Order: sequence, then structure tokens, then C-alpha cells
Amino acid sequence: MKKKNFMLIIVGLVIVTCTSCGSNESAKNKEAETKRGITKSAWGTTDGKQVHLFTLTNKSGAQIKISDYGGTITSWVVPDKKGNSSSIVLGFDSLPGYLAKPPYFGATIGRYGNRIAKGKFKIGNDTYTLATNNGKNALHGGLQGFDKVVWDPSPVVDSVASLTLNYTSKDGEEGYPGNLKTSVTFSLSDDNELTIEYNAETDKPTPINLTNHSYFNLTGDVNNNILDHILMINADHYTPVDSTLIPTGEIKSVKGTPFDFTKPGEIGSRINEVKGGYDHNFVLNKKDNSLQLVATLSDSISGRKMEVYTTEPGLQFYSGNFLNGSIKTSNGKAISQHAALCLETQHFPDSPNEPSFPSTILKPGEKYHTITKYKISLQ
Ligand code: GLA
Repeated sequence: MKKKNFMLIIVGLVIVTCTSCGSNESAKNKEAETKRGITKSAWGTTDGKQVHLFTLTNKSGAQIKISDYGGTITSWVVPDKKGNSSSIVLGFDSLPGYLAKPPYFGATIGRYGNRIAKGKFKIGNDTYTLATNNGKNALHGGLQGFDKVVWDPSPVVDSVASLTLNYTSKDGEEGYPGNLKTSVTFSLSDDNELTIEYNAETDKPTPINLTNHSYFNLTGDVNNNILDHILMINADHYTPVDSTLIPTGEIKSVKGTPFDFTKPGEIGSRINEVKGGYDHNFVLNKKDNSLQLVATLSDSISGRKMEVYTTEPGLQFYSGNFLNGSIKTSNGKAISQHAALCLETQHFPDSPNEPSFPSTILKPGEKYHTITKYKISLQ
């Protein structure tokens, strides 16, 4: 194990790690917070490996914290319309919260985000069997997916603060073929845009579907659920699923269904018509893999708005259906059903078994490269 020294990368004044970002911060700290940069601090150990927490700060003092454990976004603190700052994503203050295996809070998901039916697929004549961890299906990379490993970090401060995390998934890991060299770069711009860029290469054909599993609540308080949030998804179609959330293979129109978010609408207004709540892949209205605006989310309590841009063809809208109050935030609030939602940019679930879906197979010599941006503003 490489022992790395505590490191501080700074542009301008020293950054003071902001945990409260409240109004009683001293003027000095306020000034310091307004400087762009990254700090790195030791954050415990797992599996004999040192874990770190990085804090990316932009010019206006907004901060994103990311751990190299699971490539996990643990908080994203931005001001609301009254100037009060709070985190718009679910997360914990310390590593044990994550080691207790919460449902992927903020994590980088791989090697295959979403489900693969019965944990089986074929490439050519070879059948592969994956670790199954969701009933009979494989979900989010298996028992120890990319969300449960320690990544190798390299922080950079240039015109924006950014953090690259690297992880090589070994041939056969969780049943997947090929050594997969993966890197994920998180950048925080001065106008509160978080860009996540995913890159990978393999030495054997393998399915790949990387995403981030942040749970958003734009009010910054889990006591307000997300049913009042207003959502737009630029998708005329979605992929219906069976009772185990595996797509049936159909591409169905959203017209006249509770899946029609083509115009901004309140999430709670039709959720009761969807058995179990929203946990579906939307087929984005895109002609190519250019970076496009695919969804917006807003909330009137905070006045915050989020825009989602991606190069991906799909978006999983998950309305936090399985949250049930058993997990608590670091300040003791129960995280109840619909306390937060996920907008996971992706290829479609179970693509390796659905030849009509866009392919998720990466071959040797090819470069996997996708980009997703979440942009926060006030309205
Ligand atoms: C994904 C899945 C959901 C659920 C959550 C984690 O978003 O689609 O069904 O498994 O992860 O609880």
C-alpha cells in the first residue's frame, strides 16, 4: 500500500473545509471559502487501504465533497434563494456510514449500472455469469461494485477544481470479462456546474455502463420529500419493466401515461399510478451522443433548479422508493421514502440481453467516453 502524505492544493488563500457553511462563519473564513481549490484529508481506512475525502471549492464558495471510497459524492453545498447553504445530495459526514452499505448514496456505479437479467449474458459464443445481488438479477456491478472499492485519486486545480479517480477492475471481477481500466473525473465550475467524465479501456469485450448514483433533494432537507419537485425529462419514450425491474424489451410512448415528463410536472401528481413508484429508464430524445440537456428539476422552497446534460441515450429516474426511514442522516434525520431522487444517466438496463437496445459492449482498442453535467442555478 502506498502511504500518501496529507496534501493541500490551493489557488489563492487557504481553503477552510466548510462543514456548516452557516451564517455565523467568521468573515475571514468567508473570504477564504471564496477561493477555488481542492483539499484532501484522510477519511479512515477500509480493507487495509487509506480512504480520503476531497473538497472541491469554486470561486463563489460552493463545495462538493468526494471520497475515493466508491468515487462517492458525499455532499454538494450550494446557496438557496435566501442565501442559506445546504447540501442538495444525500450523504454522510464519515466513512462508516458508507461502509454500512447504504443504497449507493452518491456513488460511482460500475462496471454495469442498473440490472442485467439473472446475472447472465453472452458475447459471441461465450456465456458469462455475474454475481447476483438483486433477487435473481445483477444490479450496479455486483456484490463489490465500483461503489465499494477504493479508487486511486489525482486532484488537479486549473481553471476549475477537478478530481480524477482511477480504478482497474480485474478480468473476472464480479464475473465480468476483461481488465477494465477506468477513470472518472469530477470538475466543479465557478457557475456551479458539476461535470463527470467517464473513460475506460478493456483488454476483452465487456459490457460497461458507468453512472453516478447521487440522491438529490433540492430543498437540502430530507424532511421535505421530493414529491413537490418539478421534473422535466426530454423523453417521448421509456422502457417498461417486469416485476423484477428488467425491461420487457418494448420501447413505449410516454403519451397519456404518468411517465410523460416532456413538460415540467410535479413528481407526486401521478406517482400513485406507477406501481412501486418511478424506477424506470427513459429513452432520451437524442439523435446522437452529443452532450445535450435532457432533464430539469426544480423546487420552489429553495428556488434551486438543476439541469442535467448527458452524452448518454438513457436516464433512470428513481424516486427513492426503497428508502424507508431506517437510514439516518449524519444529523439524525430519518431518510424516508421519496426523501430524495436519482437521475442516473446511462445506457438502458439489461442491454447485453436486448439486441435492439444501443450496445454497451466495449471492445479492446475502443475508448469508452461519456460525459454528464449537473448544473445548479437559482430561479
Ligand atoms: C437503482 C435502481 C433501484 C434501486 C436503487 C438503489 O436506482 O434502479 O431499483 O435498486 O438503485 O436502491
